[in-house]
Amino acid sequence: MPSTGKVKVGIIGSQFEADIHAAAFQIMPEEAEVVAVASPTPGNAAALAQRYGIPRVFLDYHDMLKEPDIEMVTITAPNSFHAQMTVDIANAGKHVVCEKPLCMTLPEADEMIETCKRQGVLLGYAEELFFTPKYVKAKQMADQGAFGRVYLVKQSEKHFGPHSPWFWDMDKAGGGALMDLGCHGIAFCYWFLGRPAIKSIYAHLATNVHAAKTKGDDEAVCIIEFENGATGLIEDSWARRGGMSDRSEIYGEGGVSYADLHMGNALPTYSEYGFGYAVEKAPTTQGWSYPVFEEHWNYGIPQEMRHFARCVRGKETLQATGEDGRVVMQALYAAYASAGLGQKVSMPYHPTTTKPIDEWLSRKGQ
Ligand SMILES: NC(=O)c1ccc[n+]([C@@H]2O[C@H](COP(=O)([O-])OP(=O)(O)OC[C@H]3O[C@@H](n4cnc5c(N)ncnc54)[C@H](O)[C@@H]3O)[C@@H](O)[C@H]2O)c1
Repeated sequence: MPSTGKVKVGIIGSQFEADIHAAAFQIMPEEAEVVAVASPTPGNAAALAQRYGIPRVFLDYHDMLKEPDIEMVTITAPNSFHAQMTVDIANAGKHVVCEKPLCMTLPEADEMIETCKRQGVLLGYAEELFFTPKYVKAKQMADQGAFGRVYLVKQSEKHFGPHSPWFWDMDKAGGGALMDLGCHGIAFCYWFLGRPAIKSIYAHLATNVHAAKTKGDDEAVCIIEFENGATGLIEDSWARRGGMSDRSEIYGEGGVSYADLHMGNALPTYSEYGFGYAVEKAPTTQGWSYPVFEEHWNYGIPQEMRHFARCVRGKETLQATGEDGRVVMQALYAAYASAGLGQKVSMPYHPTTTKPIDEWLSRKGQ
């Protein structure tokens, strides 16, 4: 493998997040180039490849892993595949960037981390909130002492539910809105506060509007108590109308800061006729809408992918790791258990079920 030049990247998956990864590498092309894409539905990977000028296309990702020049592979497949794909990529001697949530179970997380260590490859956890410009600015200010002792960090992500059927199938996703979106919030609070241990978790979950479609939660409120005395409060929803919302609030004894990823990066707009695209998951562009500009950049995904490529070249050290993803997984189990038990759960929590969601579903109504 070369130790200089652009890192050669393969992407597994060809739909929503794969498109974002491909775009991200194109937005910041100095450190890496996507040379291959693999996904199983005929035509899909080829279409992505054509949109982004990616030269090699595979139906089976195992074949892509045989390409000797590929150094880093990003996983944008459903959650249930993350663990096996990570192990296969690592065993092929390539660095891994795995989308959130890290996987479906804690034993899977351990296997992913151990295999990457054993093979001497990086396991990057694709948590873009660690790279989101507005959130990075808030953390820089906090680290400079702007707010004094931070005692409360709030993060929320809300929309009307995911675009692909597998998200709604708990065997493929592992959990609902809390797992899909709350994994961002848990990671954010943990990262923002400097990774203190989590002491306890309390969660309240509901399926308010999508019960016909899923057994999973579509509404989640979760309180995280950290060892350093700070509180994390995360709110997540698959029931919120009107497109994507992603916000955080920081409260310290000496100050406060609010960040809304979309407002302030948007153009409040009224259109009688509609137009092409406003913002992720917005159902319409007619009437009032809030079209964003430089959407990928504002989420931090190009910066995140550039970081992972620089880590491969030894220019930076990994800022979002498999271990971070494991902390989030364990917290997700505890949060689902808390919602099932109707009480606060102490950490470290040792799961009693296979998937996080079952901690809630198995106790619901008891
Ligand atoms: N960081 C973020 O904010 C963010 C946003 C969206 C999705 N994601 C994550 O990205 C992952 C993919 O989500 P998505 O929205 O792109 O889903 P999607 O349904 O749009 O795409 C899934 C892709 O995986 C492919 N796939 C399925 N089985 C496969 C297999 N066996 N081998 C190879 N490819 C396979 C599908 O063909 C498809 O191309 C999920 O883990 C999701 O949580 C992260």
